[in-house]
Formats: sequence, structure tokens, C-alpha cells
Amino acid sequence: MRRTKLFKLHTLWQLLWWHHFFFLWSTINGQTRYSIPEEMKPGSVVGNLVKDLGLGLSEIFDRKLRVASEAGKQYFTVDAGKGELVVNERIDREALCGQSASCVLPLQVVIEDPLQLIRVEVEIQDINDNEPRFPSNDITLEIAESTVLGVRFPLESAIDPDVGSNSLKSYTLSKDECFNIRVKEVAGGRKVPELVLAKLLDREKKAVHKLLLTAQDGGNPVRSGTSQITIKVIDSNDNVPVFEKSLYKASVPENSVEGTFIIQTKATDVDDGQNGEIEYSFGSHTPDNILSIFSIDHSSGTISLKGKLDFEETANYEIDISAKDKGSPRMEGHCTVHIEVTDTNDNAPEIILTSPPKPVREDSPNGTVVALLSARDLDSGDNGKVILHIPRKSPFSLKPSFSHNYVLVTSGRLDREHVSDYTIEIVATDSGSPPLTSKKSIPVSITDVNDNPPVFTQPFYNVYLKENGVAGSILYSVSASDLDLGENAKISYSILDSKVQDVSVSSYVYINSDNGSIYSMHSFDYEKLKVFQIQVQAKDQGSPSLSTNATVHVFILDQNDNAPAVIYPSSAALGSLSHQRMPRSAKAGHLVTKVTAVDADSGHNAWISYKLAEATDASLFTVNLYTGEVRTKRAVSEQDDSSQRLLIEIKDDGEPVQSATVTVSILMEDALHEPILDIRHKVTEPSKKTGRITLYLILSLASVSVLSLVTFLILAVKCIRNSRSSGSCCMRRTDCDDYKNPNRNLQIQLNTDGPIKYVEVLGGDMLSQSQSFRSCMSPMSEYSDFTLIKPSSTTDFKEVISVLDASLPDSTWTFESQQKELHSI
Ligand SMILES: *[C@@H]1O[C@H](CO)[C@@H](O)[C@H](O)[C@H]1NC(C)=O
Ligand SMILES: *[C@@H]1O[C@H](CO)[C@@H](O)[C@H](O)[C@H]1NC(C)=O
Ligand SMILES: *[C@@H]1O[C@H](CO)[C@@H](O)[C@H](O)[C@H]1NC(C)=O
Repeated sequence: MRRTKLFKLHTLWQLLWWHHFFFLWSTINGQTRYSIPEEMKPGSVVGNLVKDLGLGLSEIFDRKLRVASEAGKQYFTVDAGKGELVVNERIDREALCGQSASCVLPLQVVIEDPLQLIRVEVEIQDINDNEPRFPSNDITLEIAESTVLGVRFPLESAIDPDVGSNSLKSYTLSKDECFNIRVKEVAGGRKVPELVLAKLLDREKKAVHKLLLTAQDGGNPVRSGTSQITIKVIDSNDNVPVFEKSLYKASVPENSVEGTFIIQTKATDVDDGQNGEIEYSFGSHTPDNILSIFSIDHSSGTISLKGKLDFEETANYEIDISAKDKGSPRMEGHCTVHIEVTDTNDNAPEIILTSPPKPVREDSPNGTVVALLSARDLDSGDNGKVILHIPRKSPFSLKPSFSHNYVLVTSGRLDREHVSDYTIEIVATDSGSPPLTSKKSIPVSITDVNDNPPVFTQPFYNVYLKENGVAGSILYSVSASDLDLGENAKISYSILDSKVQDVSVSSYVYINSDNGSIYSMHSFDYEKLKVFQIQVQAKDQGSPSLSTNATVHVFILDQNDNAPAVIYPSSAALGSLSHQRMPRSAKAGHLVTKVTAVDADSGHNAWISYKLAEATDASLFTVNLYTGEVRTKRAVSEQDDSSQRLLIEIKDDGEPVQSATVTVSILMEDALHEPILDIRHKVTEPSKKTGRITLYLILSLASVSVLSLVTFLILAVKCIRNSRSSGSCCMRRTDCDDYKNPNRNLQIQLNTDGPIKYVEVLGGDMLSQSQSFRSCMSPMSEYSDFTLIKPSSTTDFKEVISVLDASLPDSTWTFESQQKELHSI
């Protein structure tokens, strides 16, 4: 520290000393010499010239002292007042002396009177007023990327006009990892800077290096100059193209059209120019199928679709892509593109019949398997998910089984008679978007089951048949139909066995089992059988067979086939006479006798009328047309024959009319009681036939009148006990012994004034809404009978009655309402 201070003091002293030295004039070898630094300001004093030359101040003016410069330029003047040499103009040492080491400016001081020339020298000393300077401020170099280490690149050197220590001294270079600077001294002491490559260049890292070269002089202070060095690294093909990814993934729907963009591959090559220009292509071993489907743009690396995709054929593609630059040699990079084809719903579902449909019985229960189906769709995922369904309502349904299999089963009532064949439309729909569908029609036939019994056209039939028909003629044809098919609908007819008048019905009629025609096997006699019924059965051939019954009521219609039969007066033999007695005293209107006849027919056929056909004396007797009473027309006179003979014709009202005649012989007597005895006699002495009839009549009358009254009460009690609606009160033929007409309206109509004509057992209301009616037969008939008719409907019943009523107005049929009877009881 102290030393430094001392040194500083010393330097200061030296400066002062130098100052004196400069300003001291010297006359060495008789010459005056000044030394000044260059670039002094004008007016600066160089030295006291007058004094130094030994002159007085007055001489400056008197002797016209002046300074002349050899160089022509007036750098200095003399101050007239003080005689000092003063700088007149700027002095640049470098301009005056260049690079020479010493620079002396000679001056001539001219004094007149006497003329005297004095040479004065002014030495111009260098100061560091110039900095080193490069010939160009910008230097551009091009260096190949592949240049080896240590190679030198000479640069231009800088120039500093100053001399000595003020001249150029050193170079420095801005920091750069690739370059160093070295200075080479060449002849003449010139310093040439050189760039040395210290590290391999990499254009890809740094294509341009910018360096600042600085030249420094040795002055104080140091002055410097710079030059910008730009180094361009020239590319060499030292980089391979590199793809951004080694694996590209793309997915493309299979229905993409030609030209669809798939993926953009991109490789980069850090090299420059051609070395970095990339050409894309498929790898050299790419199979043909890929080449036919995909294309690559050589310059952009875009992969697009060229052909058709089919997911179902190929779902994935793996493609090698190469990128080559255009350098020399060509460098090549690779990548892989993975293209996934996505499924689109381009395949419609398919319905496959795994087992063909079987015919189904119409009585199949729910769940009967009809057919097996499966669904298939080539698409995958949702596009391949298939659902089968039956869109229209039908008695079938689909039951899903394992995977895509379905069972077509019945799920409702089937009726072949209603629908015999189904066409089941099945729709398959996949779950794609939009979904695709397909349809399949499955024919299913329903097989018949014998579930319908034959049905007759009517539940019962009424057949009206004239008596005395020809045996073997068609009586009626019944017909039944069956809705079933084949054997199940094949009907055979039969007659169910029953009894008609203790005889099997099969001896009356037979039926054609194929077509239901019923034939009579008898000619019927109304007087013996008025009505009967047949149970007809229609039976199909099913298994088991079904049958239906129908009732055929056969009503025999009366024909006028019986002539009236005279009951009284009876004639024992043909043409024999019936003798009646009457008193001769009889007055006009005296009842002589009553002719009684019956007709086995019914209705009009049994309407009997009496007429006097012949008489001994037609003026004496008259016969009542309706009653058959024979009365006197006038009083008998003494002139009248005591024996009179009358021929009475008896006719019925049938078509054709049947008639009979009877001859009545009348004996006139004077006694009164004789005819009565005669009558008794006649009664007790009947002919064989009339006696039987009369006996029968009496017996039946007795039984009717007594038993009916007794059993009426029994039956009435029974009926009350039994169900009200049942027809159990109806009498059966076998009950005839018990039969007593229970009707309170019961009448026994009987001809009182004479022999019995007929007996009527009358019931209640003829047209009541009865469910059953009863008939009792004419007692006149030898074969009189009770017949039961049970119509099954009231309307038909009415019909029956009207028919009967019209044809049999005088019928001995009676109807009674059992209901009414019960009600009234
Ligand atoms: C049969 O299936 C149908 C529809 O599913 C149903 O309505 C019917 O009641 C079923 N019948 C029987 C007997 O189960
Ligand atoms: C039934 O067949 C018989 C014999 O072939 C025939 O006479 C009759 O007319 C047929 N009946 C009907 C209703 O066809
Ligand atoms: C038909 O009548 C017979 C004999 O009376 C009987 O056995 C059968 O059950 C009846 N059939 C029908 C369907 O009523």
C-alpha cells in the first residue's frame, strides 16, 4: 500500500519532469526542438520561441518574426504579445507521419533586418487516439457440418494506425463451444487471427454460429474494434427421417367410401434441403390386399381408402410405412399403422328354421313346441344382436332359449274350425343404428281334433204322416253337420231304441245311416197309433266319437178310412131289423128312438150326420140331422100302419164320405110299458159285438168316474210334493191303472138321453203355455189308449195344437196344463 503511494508520487514527479523537458527548448547542435503530443487544441502554447531564440519581445514586431512551415500547412503561429509558439491547427500524427515511429515537424522561423532563418523542429508524439479496426464488420463463413476437429479458418486482421504500445496488441472471441481463436504472427509482425474448430458442428442443433471478434490495442486506456463473424453450417445427410409416432392407430367404419381419409402419418428429418425432404411409401413387403385397399400420398404421408372394406372379412390391418429423404445416401425411417375396421350395421339379420314347423293339434296346450328357430347376423356387437318377435297378434309366441335360438310355441287357444292355417310372420331386428330387419313367414297348419259334435238342423223334428201310407217310403230325412274334418266330421245316423206300444221302434222305422233318411216299415193306422217319437242319433267317426240326439215326433194324420158304425139300434146280422115300439097314442114330437153311430176316424171324418133315407110313411117320422133322434112329426092316427120301417143313412164328413145305413122297424102298440121292456130286452140281449162294446163302455165309464175321483186326490198330493217344474205328474201309459184325471175341470161328457155316444175327459185351457199335455183316447175305440206327447217347446206345441185343432175339431184329445193344475191346487 505504501509502496503504491510512493510509486504514484514518483509518477507524478516524472510527469512534471517530462513537462519541463518538453517545454524546455534545446539548442542542441544550434537547433531548437520542441516536443508536443498530437491533437493539441489550437491556441495551446508549444514554447516561448522568442525567449528560446534569445530575442527581445520588441523584435517580434520590429523584425517581423514569422513561422513558415515546410509542409505547407500552417500548424503553428507565434503570439506577438508573449513571443510564444502556439498551435494553430489540429495536428494528427498519423496523418503527418503514418506508421513511422518518429514524427518531427520542421519549422522555419524567419526574422528580417537582418534576415535570419532559424530552424525549429517540433516533434509530434503519438497518443492512443485510434482503435483497432477490421476491414469489414461482418464476416460470413460457411463450414460443412462434417468438418473434422482442429481445422483452422484464417480471418482478416484488424488495423490500428497508432504506433508503439498504442498499436494492435491482441484478439478475443466471444464464447462459443465450437470455436476458439488463435493468433498467428506473420512476417512484419502482423497478427492474423484464426478460428479453430474445437467441437464437431451439428447443423441440426445450431445451423448458424454468430461470433464477435474483438481486436484490442495496448494503449492506455485500451481501445478495441469488433467484427461480427457469422458461420453458416452446411448440412450433411446425417439424420434419418423420424416418424412422430412409431405406431399410429386409426379406426375406420367399414362402409367408408373410396377416398376416405384414414390417418396422417408424419415423419420429420432434421436435415436441411433435399436431405430433409421426405417421401412416404408403404413398406416393401406390404401384401397386395393392403395395396389394393389403401393408398398413401407420397409427399404428405396421408393414408386414404382406395378400395372396399369389409369388417366381416378383415377387421384389422397392420401396415408398415417408410419415409425416405432425398439426400445421398437416402436415409429411411419406419412406422406402423394399425387400422381397425369398425363394424357398421350392413348385414341384415337372418332367420333360420332349425326344425321345420310341425302341424299342431287344435287342442294343444300353451307352450306346445311348433318349430325351432335361430337368428344370425354377420355383424358384431350391437349390430349383431338380434331379437325375434311376432308383430301381429297370434296364438303363437317365441320363447328365447340358449344364445340366439328360439322356440316357437303355442300361447293361446287354437281352433281349427276358426283358423285352420296360420302364416306366422317373424321379424328379426338387430340393435344397430339404424336397425336392420328381415322377415320370415312360417306356415303352421292346425290338425283337427274331434271337438265338435254333429249338430242337427233342428233340435227336434215334427213329421206329419198320413195313415195308410206305403210301407218302405221315406218318412223324413234328418240331417246333421259336423264342423270337424275328415273322419271327425263323418256322420252316421242311427235310431236309439225305444218302445212304441210295447214294440221296439226299430220295427216301425229304420234310418239310412249315411244320409239320415228315415223309412217307415209299416203303414200306420191313425186309429191305432196317433203319435210316436224317434230318438235319432248322429255320431261322428272321431276318436272318441261325439254324438247328438234329436227327437222326431211323428204325427199320424187321420184319413177317412172308417165308415160310421151304428151302435144303436144294433143289428145283429147284416140287414137284420131293429124293432122299436111306440104307443099309438104318441103325439107329435114323440121320441121314438135314437140312432147312435160312431166313427173311428177323427175330426170331420168322424162328424156324423143322420138322414132319413126311406120310410114307409115319410110324413110320420123325422130324423134329427145331428143327434139321430127319431121323432114323430105328427100324432099317430088310426090309419097309420102299425109296422113302420125307416132306412136311416149315416154319413161322416170325411173326404170321400163314408156312410152306413140302418133300418129301424117301428111297431105301434097300444100299451105303454111294452117298449121299455123291449128296450131292456134289447139291452140285455145284445148281439155279440155290441154287447162287448157296451160292456167295455160301462166298465171304462165306471173306472173313469170312480177311480179318477179317488186318484185325483192322491195324484194332487203327489204333485205338490214333487218339483213344481217337473213333468212328473204326467201320466205314463204304464200308470194307466192309477190314472185319474186330476183336473178340477174334469168333465165326463156323456150322452144321457140314450145310448152312450162317446166320453170326453176334458182338461183345462187348451192353449195354455203348457209344457206337457195329456191325451186320453176315445172310449169308443176298441183299442183306445192313452198317449203321451211331450213337446219340448211351447211354440211348437202351439203349432201342434193348431194342426190338431184344424184337423180334429171334434177330437177326443184333451189337453191340460199341468202347470195350471198345480197352480190352481
Ligand atoms: C295361454 O297363453 C295365453 C297368452 O299367454 C293366456 O292368455 C292364456 O290364459 C293361456 N292359457 C292357459 C290355459 O294357460
Ligand atoms: C239317402 O240315400 C237313399 C239311398 O241311396 C236315397 O234313396 C235317399 O234319397 C237319400 N236321401 C237323401 C236325403 O239324399
Ligand atoms: C242320446 O241318447 C242316449 C240314449 O238315451 C244317451 O245315452 C245319450 O247320452 C244321449 N246323447 C246326448 C248327447 O244327449
